[in-house]
Formats: sequence, structure tokens, C-alpha cells
Amino acid sequence: MPGTVVVGLQWGDEGKGKISYLLSREAEYVVRFQGGANAGHTVVVDDKELRFNMLPAGAASGARPCIASGTVVDLNEVMEEVQLLKSIGVNVSPLISRNANIVLPIHRELDSMIEGMRSGEALGTTGRGIGPAYSDKALRIGIRIEDLLHREILENKVKFLEKAHGLKITGIDELAKLAENFIENICSLEIILNDLLDNGVNVIFEGAQGTLLDIDHGTYPYVTSSNTTVGAVLTSCGIGPRKISEVVGVMKAYTTRVGAGVFPTELKDESGVILRERGREYGTTTGRPRRVGWLDIPLTRYCIKINDVDWIALTKLDVLSGFDKLKICVEYELDGETVKLTSPSVRLLERVKPIYIELDGWPKLSKKDWEEISTKGWDSLPDNAREYVETIEELLGKPIKIVSIGARVGMEVVK
Ligand code: IMP
Repeated sequence: MPGTVVVGLQWGDEGKGKISYLLSREAEYVVRFQGGANAGHTVVVDDKELRFNMLPAGAASGARPCIASGTVVDLNEVMEEVQLLKSIGVNVSPLISRNANIVLPIHRELDSMIEGMRSGEALGTTGRGIGPAYSDKALRIGIRIEDLLHREILENKVKFLEKAHGLKITGIDELAKLAENFIENICSLEIILNDLLDNGVNVIFEGAQGTLLDIDHGTYPYVTSSNTTVGAVLTSCGIGPRKISEVVGVMKAYTTRVGAGVFPTELKDESGVILRERGREYGTTTGRPRRVGWLDIPLTRYCIKINDVDWIALTKLDVLSGFDKLKICVEYELDGETVKLTSPSVRLLERVKPIYIELDGWPKLSKKDWEEISTKGWDSLPDNAREYVETIEELLGKPIKIVSIGARVGMEVVK
């Protein structure tokens, strides 16, 4: 604190929503700094499941949500999620950077068109128009939030966009109307954030997707269109590195991935099916079944390095109970030799064979058992569960400070 960044150390869906919520309880502001409505952050408070695509999930704690310049904004989602927050008694109005680009209906159409063209090589995007919105931004033909408030500028921009894409742009009047609801909220967010951080106010920066989906540092081209790593906080929010005091890495106790791309520890057998069902591994945004596999230490070490992670929150440990043996990939083998992973090169990862260590599992516990553990704390976890966590800590060389053992807030132990 005051500037705490939460990033994912895998391919997304690590459970960042819940961890951000836990940390946001001590913060006044929580910021989404990249991506758009492709994210699906869930937090379960008092048995009510709250899903966020566009606003940071930490906002459910009462911290004021912010949407920074580096995002691509779906205003309809913002509107819906403000209502969702109201429904749980959280009356907050989001701060939205005037510079953020917006996602238009045409971006969704282009997203599915390009995916269609790739046929067998489709990335498996979320279909939320993220890639096309970011590419319009890079081409400097994108429409920014503030443009929605200036009729003439907007009309000119739309005309040019239509020319550039050779397609009719629809839905813009609706978006301009929607933006009127947010006139008070559209702001120079970078100035506000700098002032807040200078005054020691606690701000959480809630990452979306995971490090391995980063457009520069991930498993390109099977990635998203934004930087999902810690550097994006600086560029998106316009703050300097000294404003960040802590980087928290979130990882699942096993690995999952949605969409196409390399996945060295993927489980394609019966244990994969069991893991998927027990972990309810289906996409929050798209409902797609997630691919599942064992923990991958070389890749996670890389993600820790890229983000300069201080400590780790490990999620979904409860899902692993009932397995006789648990595997952790500690190294890779290539052509009979052990190889060091220096980058998540798709060429390399496609060819490597994981080298596993095997740990003893622990018996399946009931919901009541886990609730008891969450009350009693770390020492009450089964011995083998503690050993699993401590082995990961040792292999990664970073402390695991929070172990999440269920979706609901409260179902976690702090080490
Ligand atoms: P896009 O971000 O919709 O363009 O999708 C690009 C890739 O990132 C696809 O493989 C998606 O499944 C993946 N992806 C995007 N957002 C998320 C997320 O929030 N969790 C997990 N995977 C995601």
C-alpha cells in the first residue's frame, strides 16, 4: 500500500476478482487498467455471486471503481455493473478516464470475422471486440470516451472510421446517449490517481487476464491484445514506478487456459475431466469449458519475474482434495535434455515434455470441513495440503500469504 497491483500468473481466471476484493476492503479506490469486457471477475459475498466484466471486482467492497486510459470500454457493461453494485447496497460512481477508447458493435463483428478467417487456427477470443478496438486505437482512428460528449467531433470520427473499415458504423447514438449518464464521471484520471497516491490513499490496480496472455510477454499469438502485466499500470494510469508499493501475483493451485495455444501440463485424461468438474472450470464471460492441467513452475517463475511479484495468493486449493497423487511440473525436457525456460516461446513450449514431481494428496473434505479450516486457519489444513503449498513456495522462491479454499469471501486462510 498505497499502490498495490494484482496480476495473474497464469493464463487468466486465477481468481484475481476475489483477491482484489479482499485487498480492496482496505483501499479507497480500485482501478481496471487494461483489457475490456473480455474479463470475467467473480466475487462471492454472503453467497451472492457477483460477476464483473468491465468494472473491477474490488468495487464490491465499496472501493470506488476507476477505468483507466489503457482499457477499451464497453459502456453498456459499465451501466449494468453499476446497477449490480447498487443491488448489493454499494452506491459508487465509477471514474472513467476521458482517454480510454470505446468498444463499438463493429469491433465485435470484426472480432468474429477475423476469427472465422483463421478457421482451424482461431485464437478462441471472447468475441468481445477487444482486438479490433485496440487495433483502431493503435491506428489512431479509435473513438475515445470524451469524443462521445462532442457531437461534431464524434460524427467526423465515425465517418472516418466507416471509410477506414469500409463498413457502416451502428450503435453510436446509443453510446453517446449512454455517455451522458457519466458526464460527471469522465475525468483526467491520471491526475486524480497521482494526487491520491501522493496523499497516501490506498489504491488497488486490478489486473485482468494473466501474464501468459500479455501481448508482448505471453504465448503470442495466443494472447489478448493488451499488456496484462505490471508495466501496464504505469502506461495506462500515467503514474510512475515509485507509486507502486507492492505487486501481488495470483495463481491457481493448478493451471487452466481458455481458447487455443500451447499448454505443456495440460491433462487430457480422466483426471482432467475430474479437475474441470470439481473446479467448475467454465468461462465466466463465455461459458466455454476451460482446458486444465497441473501446475507449471517454469512458466510461473517467468511470470513472477516479469511482474517483480512480492508475494503470492494461491487460489482453489480445495479443488485438489481427493486426488491420490498431485503432480507439479518443475522442469522441461527437450530431446532428452533438461531445458531452461527463458521466455514462453510457443515454438519451444510446443516441443517440451514436462518433468514432474509427485506429492501425496489429501482426502476429500466436506464443505463443513473447509469452513472450519477457514475459521481455524493455516495450521488446520491437512498436512499434505500444507506441504503442497510449501513446496510451491520453495520452488518459486516467493511467500504465499493468502490461500483461497472456496469461492466465497471468508473461505481463505492467511499465512
Ligand atoms: P480476447 O481477449 O477476447 O481477444 O481473447 C484472446 C485470448 O485471451 C483467448 O484465448 C481468450 O480465451 C483469452 N482471454 C481473454 N480474456 C480472458 C480472461 O479473462 N480469462 C481467460 N482467458 C481470457
